Amino acid sequence: MKEQLEQIKQQALCALDAAATPADLEELRVRYLGKKGELTAVLKQMGSLSAEERPVMGQVANSVRAVIEEKLESRKSEIGAAVLEAKLASEAIDVTIPGEPVTMGHEHPMNQVLQQIKDIFVGMGYQIVDGPEIELADYNFTRLNIEEGHPSRDRSDTFYFDDEDKVLLRTQTSPMQIRYMENHKPPLCMLAPGRVFRKDEADATHSPMFHQIEGLVVAENITMGDLKGALITIMHKIYGHDANVRFRPHHFPFTEPSCEMDMQCHKCHGTGEVNGGVCSTCHGEGWIELLGAGMVHPEVLRNCGIDPDKYSGFAFGIGLERTAMGRLKINDLRLIFDNDARFLNQF
Ligand code: DAH
Repeated sequence: MKEQLEQIKQQALCALDAAATPADLEELRVRYLGKKGELTAVLKQMGSLSAEERPVMGQVANSVRAVIEEKLESRKSEIGAAVLEAKLASEAIDVTIPGEPVTMGHEHPMNQVLQQIKDIFVGMGYQIVDGPEIELADYNFTRLNIEEGHPSRDRSDTFYFDDEDKVLLRTQTSPMQIRYMENHKPPLCMLAPGRVFRKDEADATHSPMFHQIEGLVVAENITMGDLKGALITIMHKIYGHDANVRFRPHHFPFTEPSCEMDMQCHKCHGTGEVNGGVCSTCHGEGWIELLGAGMVHPEVLRNCGIDPDKYSGFAFGIGLERTAMGRLKINDLRLIFDNDARFLNQF
């Protein structure tokens, strides 16, 4: 029996030395020390021993159990430490690896130009106002002296909401002239930037949604000279003092006389040609139309309760995308709306 116990001890110590994981240790604990384990099996034979032998064997058995338990504990802490070390090594964080840079967005290039234009006008005493994009035909057309049947009212050009053509997506920011004059008496000086909508196919210079900046000045003794002076000053501030601009006579129902202002094409510098071909930015014109303007029609003043014999005024509507294209030297208007980060990041 003594040899049996000695054998169990040696086997158990060897097996515990060879164990590699906590699961191995648990298996060995059950095998040698468990209720159905090998040591217990030997102890069950104690009854067959003589009264003198029994306590001696009992002592031997207890010491074998104690040795195995001690070994088990020491292997537990060794294996536990190894497991922890492996875990720490595999989960180690290298604090010296450089971090990922946080990418910050910035203002859209068109809004940068808009902000610059607003600043210029605020400096000249204009009040900046906002108005509805869903507009009444009454404001968008009728009170601007655009009669029934005028081509700009056509369903092929305008997004209407109703069958009677009374409610629409504004086709221009000019209705803001009426809205402002309804609530303000001259002298007045306002600027109304905003989105406008037309049934246009998108190409290099057109989009079904674009931006205009409406301006209106009404006071006593305002003349065409004031209009020209204000617009030239503004264009020089935006484009620099060597910018080439020109006025052309035009017709708008809500101004009399009316004109358009062009700026020399930034791509072909007015020649209309690039590398022997037609300049795609100005379609060979050499000039890019930036705005419509004119002296406010007396009928429009009257429609807003302002006496045209006492007051006169000028108005203008600037195309923001066209202005931004010239300012940023962009050749295709669609780039402004594509939101391609490779384009936007250049500004
Ligand atoms: N609303 C015109 C357009 O969309 C532009 C315009 C022309 C605005 C003359 C004006 C103006 O204020 O006086 O084509």
